[in-house]
Amino acid sequence: MKITVAGTGYVGLVAGACFAEKGHDVLCVDIDENKVNAMKKGICPIYEENLEDLMIKNYKAGRLDYTTDYKTAYKDADVIFIGVGTPEKEDGSADLSYVKNVACQIAENAEKNCLVVVKSTVPVGTNDKIEALIKENLAHDVKIEVASNPEFLAQGHAVRDTLFAKRIVIGTESQEAENLLQEIYKPFNLPIVSVNRKSAEMIKYACNNFLALKISYMNDIANLCDLMGANVEDVAKGMSYDTRIGNSFLNAGIGYGGSCLPKDTKALNYIASQNGYDLKIIKAVVDVNEKQKVKLFNKALKRLKSFDGLKVAVLGVTFKPGTDDLREAPAVANIKLLLEKGANVHLYDPVRN
Ligand SMILES: NC(=O)c1ccc[n+]([C@@H]2O[C@H](COP(=O)([O-])OP(=O)(O)OC[C@H]3O[C@@H](n4cnc5c(N)ncnc54)[C@H](O)[C@@H]3O)[C@@H](O)[C@H]2O)c1
Repeated sequence: MKITVAGTGYVGLVAGACFAEKGHDVLCVDIDENKVNAMKKGICPIYEENLEDLMIKNYKAGRLDYTTDYKTAYKDADVIFIGVGTPEKEDGSADLSYVKNVACQIAENAEKNCLVVVKSTVPVGTNDKIEALIKENLAHDVKIEVASNPEFLAQGHAVRDTLFAKRIVIGTESQEAENLLQEIYKPFNLPIVSVNRKSAEMIKYACNNFLALKISYMNDIANLCDLMGANVEDVAKGMSYDTRIGNSFLNAGIGYGGSCLPKDTKALNYIASQNGYDLKIIKAVVDVNEKQKVKLFNKALKRLKSFDGLKVAVLGVTFKPGTDDLREAPAVANIKLLLEKGANVHLYDPVRN
């Protein structure tokens, strides 16, 4: 099976390396020439545990390669995974321009029937639009279907999360597409949840928004604990034994960040409002998080009165441990405020230097 993966970020590159590890023939395509050249030399462009080893091993074995050339990437692929970014637009909606660009590049270059699989997080209904866009722009007489296969990996242990995923979600509109995806994932030997495309798209948003909700809930409880003399860590420990609640995402902190939860909460709010629904819970989640991000700064300011000329150490800059990703990192919001207030800021991060 010839697989092409579009986009070699946290999602695409990990998927490509893991598909190769499971024996598939994989070609990763990216617009970033420097990235592609580095990957061909065995250099992993992102920090992700075990990823570089997997890349080197499978590149040497001839199962994994990289290109910037769309024709080479798409002309004879059996399956094309799209893993490009879907960042937040100013109005909170998801920017689908990168996904649409890939769709057009596929339409122009595919010379063989193939299945296009969207791994990027996209609003419900996007797969329908991507399929229509490809069909409108086809340069050759080929049949292309689109399927959804949202990604649930967490940065920091993305390779482990992919090879040993809790489940694979596939959203298809035909038996043929479902069979093809079942075949690709067969060597992983993992539970597969097979649904229609829209449900698959919604599962991803529902999961990320639920995780964000857990974080904001615990931060709200932590703030109340502070006011009342309770210890939130003890409270979380007491909660964690209840299997209805679970023991993860109970750590209070300075709010969630990263390239997923902030944009996916806003995107779901946007989707809801476009459909005439007021998603009150997720609005509150976003609101709590915005305030939480600067809670520590405001506490310190209250105690110190001024940061002017003070030397301030910031320990940990990325949005969470084990990643080099600074996107939407709450630490960055705090650093900006510290600099505005005249602090002399010194940063330390064990991964990002
Ligand atoms: N990062 C995560 O932890 C995570 C987890 C699950 C889902 N997702 C979703 O997966 C998607 C990708 O996220 P990411 O963090 O991997 O993004 P990323 O920004 O790290 O990587 C995107 C890559 O796509 C490349 N690209 C852009 N346009 C291209 C094109 N036309 N052809 C080929 N390559 C192109 C970019 O150069 C970049 O290397 C997003 O929708 C995100 O919400 C991310």
